[in-house]
Amino acid sequence: MLRPATSILLAMSIALPLPLLAATPPGDPAAGAGAFRKCASCHQVGPSARAVFGPHLNGIVGRRAGATGDYAYSPALKRSGIVWDEAALARFLRDPDDMVPGTKMRFWGIRDERQIANLLAYLRQYP
Ligand code: HEC
Repeated sequence: MLRPATSILLAMSIALPLPLLAATPPGDPAAGAGAFRKCASCHQVGPSARAVFGPHLNGIVGRRAGATGDYAYSPALKRSGIVWDEAALARFLRDPDDMVPGTKMRFWGIRDERQIANLLAYLRQYP
């Protein structure tokens, strides 16, 4: 038999949403798929992805900025020397024009860290 205090604690920890339990929870790719709707008007991922309004984003985590062959990048992004690791992507998505002044990506930015983590988890599924 569990003591009442223990079972209350157990019930609480089950009821607590995950982000409160883990300090830096990994992103959720399924939630990231929803967040990608914000990008999908300009970007494609997946086997048949190609440049549309923006470059395709397959393999973006770890890719050099301005490196896809079928897209005409802005000089600003091409010259940036950025390698898109997760920190760089998070910074860019928060405020593209602040990180790369003169970029062609017109996007308000995402302030929500959780949503950025989810988005990166989603993008990592497309190497
Ligand atoms: C209104 C269109 C638009 C939206 C919406 C948009 N982007 Fe972009 N994005 C662009 C364009 C255009 C570029 C090329 C920028 C340049 O050449 O300066 C770009 C570039 C990028 C790059 C750099 C790619 C490379 O090959 O170096 C990343 C990463 C990126 N976008 C991610 C995202 C993500 C993730 C979202 C959604 C949260 C998003 N973008 C939303 C238009 C958009």
